[in-house]
Amino acid sequence: MLFACVAMLFAACSSSTDQSNQKTPSFMDLARARYAVRNYAQTPVEQAKIDSILAAGQLAPTAKNVQPQHIYVLQSAEAIAKINELTRCAYHAPVVFLVCYNTDLVWNKDGANSGDMDCSIVGTHMMMEATELGLGTCWVKWFDPEQVAAAFELPANHKPSFLMPCGYPSDDAQPNAHHYNRKPLTETVTYK
Ligand SMILES: Cc1cc2nc3c(=O)[nH]c(=O)nc-3n(C[C@H](O)[C@H](O)[C@H](O)COP(=O)(O)O)c2cc1C
Repeated sequence: MLFACVAMLFAACSSSTDQSNQKTPSFMDLARARYAVRNYAQTPVEQAKIDSILAAGQLAPTAKNVQPQHIYVLQSAEAIAKINELTRCAYHAPVVFLVCYNTDLVWNKDGANSGDMDCSIVGTHMMMEATELGLGTCWVKWFDPEQVAAAFELPANHKPSFLMPCGYPSDDAQPNAHHYNRKPLTETVTYK
């Protein structure tokens, strides 16, 4: 409900950019509005919104700018049924982004590999753009990457990093208790 209200506010803001007294949502507005959505309406996500989410990911920085990400947009009935069989965390969203990195392209030096980090920055861009567009998302790591790679017949060099279900939150979607629990900065930040 909170999300729906904020989404409506954002929609109102972005459709009135011609009125100089309207405030465009700031990054902090979006960061506050986002939460892990685990309950989705079956309303299809417009292709223009999917395009915009993918374009936001494209703008992300990656190590040495090699852009090793490869994103599978799962949206056919068959693909959605398959991913829901493979993990309980696809939440029957109408779209699931399967974000992978190419192991042949990824920056790899002295035992360090930037694949998951690159994908995470791409995914964060995508998540925040989805929020701006009134869509919900959830970051999902609880799946077996090998099973998913086999089920979707991925090339051997496409390594799944995470899943991101995406869609309009259902009317009764709301943040769970974890969402409101943020540690004080004094616990997570040290100045030296
Ligand atoms: C790396 C990572 C992995 C996550 N994996 C899952 C998951 O497998 N299933 C799930 O339902 N949520 C998952 N989440 C969502 C977190 O539980 C959620 O973001 C966290 O509890 C904070 O809540 P909020 O996103 O509503 O603020 C994951 C989040 C991150 C960042």
